[in-house]
Amino acid sequence: MDELRAEMFQVAVGYWLSKALFCAARANVADQLEEGPRPVDELASAAGVDSENLYRVLRALASIGIFEETEPGIMALTKKAEYLRGDHPHSMKHFALMVGGDLFDVWCDLDHAVQTGRSAVEKRFGRDFFSEIGKDLQKSMVFDRAMQEIHGGETALMLAHYDFSKHSKLLDVGGGNGSTLAEILLAHGHLSGALFDLPQVVANARQLLADSPVLDRIEFEPGDFFEEVPGEADCIVLRHVLHDWNDEQSTTILENASKALAKGGSLLIVEKVIPPGNEPSFVKLLDLNMMAIGGKERTELQYRTLLERAAIHLHQIHETPGPIDVIEARL
Ligand SMILES: C[S@@+](CC[C@H](N)C(=O)[O-])C[C@H]1O[C@@H](n2cnc3c(N)ncnc32)[C@H](O)[C@@H]1O
Repeated sequence: MDELRAEMFQVAVGYWLSKALFCAARANVADQLEEGPRPVDELASAAGVDSENLYRVLRALASIGIFEETEPGIMALTKKAEYLRGDHPHSMKHFALMVGGDLFDVWCDLDHAVQTGRSAVEKRFGRDFFSEIGKDLQKSMVFDRAMQEIHGGETALMLAHYDFSKHSKLLDVGGGNGSTLAEILLAHGHLSGALFDLPQVVANARQLLADSPVLDRIEFEPGDFFEEVPGEADCIVLRHVLHDWNDEQSTTILENASKALAKGGSLLIVEKVIPPGNEPSFVKLLDLNMMAIGGKERTELQYRTLLERAAIHLHQIHETPGPIDVIEARL
């Protein structure tokens, strides 16, 4: 019974850890420790933050194995803390910044969503999440890198569980920094692609992909998917796009995307389908994040209904053992 209560305690204080991680990431502590242990005074002064309070944050994190105090006032990286380095190949730094920063602010109003059925983000920012972060280049770039950090590994799953070789042109709608599109084009030399996203996101992607070996096969399409999705492609990807929006908004996105879908082509919704019952699944927790920002994760039935509303039909669900499934829809 005591063990269960201790677990409950960890759940209750979950945001303490999340916010502490955010403070350490914001002060670039892990990046600063790359060469070896350093005094907290130095770390704080380089980051322009208060030394005593940074020490308290790092001491708390060290108590759960993130950072280590090797001598009084001297901090070092641990294996866990390495993931907060911005240049780590599996970095979580920007994810920690996003979850403990802008998303944290929105989560403060999660109960508003539960009480009223409306989105927490509207209460907090008075606008949708993407309009809010879009007005600040720095926030927009943190979000973009966070997306790559958490979703980047999913492209390999898409390639393993969906056969892109039957297509000739791929349009990635809400494709973010273009890394998904580039990875798929790299794996399939015959494919050409287009990246569609908000103007500032596409401008950033254009820069990031400047040296990509697949650059000459990519078109950059800035725009707003609530207005129009331009061009024509026989494969349209919507990865982690629909879960950001409610059913009405998602229907509009699907209707606009379908207009760009060539006859006989496939529209791929890449999200994790919520499994039934009490089965543990990260998507059930992620769904709360989507509730906060005004969207939702969906069950198979909910995807079927949503697609019908947009006058397309669910053709096949390509399940993966990982954090996504590929829901293939056709006209
Ligand atoms: C959750 S991110 C997913 C990014 C990427 N597909 C991935 O899997 O990592 C959602 C994307 O939708 C884009 N987006 C949001 N509102 C949009 C709009 N109105 N028109 C076009 N893209 C939009 C965002 O800029 C962002 O890149």
